[in-house]
Amino acid sequence: MFAQSESLAKSAQRILETNCVACHGAARMSDLDVRSPENILTGGKRGPAIVPGKASESLLLMAVRREGELRMPLGNSSLKPLEVSILSDWIDAGAPRSSTSGCEFGRTPTADGGEGRGAGRDHNPYGFTLWMVGGGVRGGQVIGSTDELGLRAAEYPVHLNDLHASILELLGLDHAKLTYRHSGRDFRLTDVGGKTDLAAKLRNS
Ligand code: HEC
Repeated sequence: MFAQSESLAKSAQRILETNCVACHGAARMSDLDVRSPENILTGGKRGPAIVPGKASESLLLMAVRREGELRMPLGNSSLKPLEVSILSDWIDAGAPRSSTSGCEFGRTPTADGGEGRGAGRDHNPYGFTLWMVGGGVRGGQVIGSTDELGLRAAEYPVHLNDLHASILELLGLDHAKLTYRHSGRDFRLTDVGGKTDLAAKLRNS
């Protein structure tokens, strides 16, 4: 069930990103931002864009079905029937959020690659933010920071190997023992690194 709602959330998010975010992202046309379920729920000038659990009563669905006054995406191209039914299922499932959306990779604070739909933000491995919960992590704290542009880690930079080792420690696993044999030697997720002092900070600090 979890895997199902997770993949539904991801598919819905992808459809909205591809077809709607150009106008309902930062541009917020008609005050609507579809980049998160919370914002979709808040809706735009006409009020909430969805009623979780009730796709048929949701403005967003009527808009992509092009049955009422709104015909979205604006313009001539409509969504494919499969995409409309994914959005419908997603709303009926209560519009779950994709739980891994925040930690795929860092993104640059700047956009490149042209304007409008072509514009994007590159991967940024030099500084990014990770929201953590569970594993004994104490909530309500912020560890480290990026520079004023949000481009590189500034205070308390953490290497990925150390981040992974710390996450494993919070889960009760010793990263040094978690190996797999390949090409005649043992490989680790944490390679030859893996300091775990972040784990203590996350639990308490
Ligand atoms: C090219 C720009 C553009 C794209 C792309 C676009 N929209 Fe819109 N959308 C608009 C504009 C402009 C309005 C306001 C129309 C009006 O008030 O008559 C609007 C209004 C809406 C509203 C009503 C918001 C409110 O409360 O007033 C919804 C819901 C909506 N769009 C959903 C979508 C969805 C879902 C997609 C993607 C499948 C999408 N739109 C793609 C431009 C766009």
